[in-house]
Amino acid sequence: MQVDDLILPIFVVEGEGEPEPIESMPNVFRLPIPRLIEKCRELHDLGLRAVALFPKVPTKKKDDQGTGALNQNNLVLNAARTLKQAIPELILVGDLALDPYTTHGHDGVLDLSGNVDNDSTVTILAEMGVLAANAGIDIVAPSDMMDGRIAEIRRNLDESGHIETAILAYSAKFASAYYGPFREAVGSKCPDSNSSIDKRTYQLSPANAREAQRELLLDEKEGADFLMVKPAEPYLDVIRYARDTFNLPIVAYQVSGEYARIWAAAERGWLELDACMMESLTSIKRSGADLILTYFAERILRSRHLGGISSGAESS
Ligand code: PBG
Repeated sequence: MQVDDLILPIFVVEGEGEPEPIESMPNVFRLPIPRLIEKCRELHDLGLRAVALFPKVPTKKKDDQGTGALNQNNLVLNAARTLKQAIPELILVGDLALDPYTTHGHDGVLDLSGNVDNDSTVTILAEMGVLAANAGIDIVAPSDMMDGRIAEIRRNLDESGHIETAILAYSAKFASAYYGPFREAVGSKCPDSNSSIDKRTYQLSPANAREAQRELLLDEKEGADFLMVKPAEPYLDVIRYARDTFNLPIVAYQVSGEYARIWAAAERGWLELDACMMESLTSIKRSGADLILTYFAERILRSRHLGGISSGAESS
């Protein structure tokens, strides 16, 4: 494993204040734009090549249609523009999904019966893609799992002249219990409900490997430039399948809950943090991931700098 293989997901928040801690993700913060620039500059100097931006949108700017997603002066687009100007060589990955912007926390708009409406969501995602590219995002990453969105996003990008903008497709994204800390971080879970939001009509069943295979194939055919499997460590078989089947780069997302469980056990003294971190990332790499989104990217960059952690992992 090399630092070049790592993409750091970063949470952005409005304002100019201090970084905000996220309770279920030790050492991860929501950053106002000025702190985001500082952090990215520092990590870019240590060798970080790419970040994936996720906004925490204030509740008062959310609505049931997620209209904030198409405001070209929204938080994440402002962050992208500022960051691109400050550090042009840093690769920016921009998520396309409505969950930061909807009051109900779903990744799309709802139909009259309360289900996510696939086709009208795809139209919005394709517009989001163009706005993201206009703001300097290099790679758009639809994380919504709607059907047919890759082709539509590609078409809109090409028609607006963004032929170089790449698409990282969240292709095999499972309806996982490991997204909880992320939903705390971006505020996409209902504060007054204890049950987690149910995305099973569009995310994959953890039991269904063949459906994951079909989704990967569809996204490849529709023109994705990268295929993603998410979460990572619980789905190493799917990563291996993707690596053996497709010639595109395979990306794995070691998600918030994978990060949190290692930290939680380490804080109790039950597991060794750095050893578990490296074993987990090594396994993901070994199973065939070319690139890994991981909240540990910062820790790895800093400890490599100090000579603390040796990777020991071979690339596959
Ligand atoms: C939603 C989105 C999610 C994550 C990335 N984009 C959560 C969800 O589907 O509810 C999860 C990432 C993580 O847990 O680290 N578009």
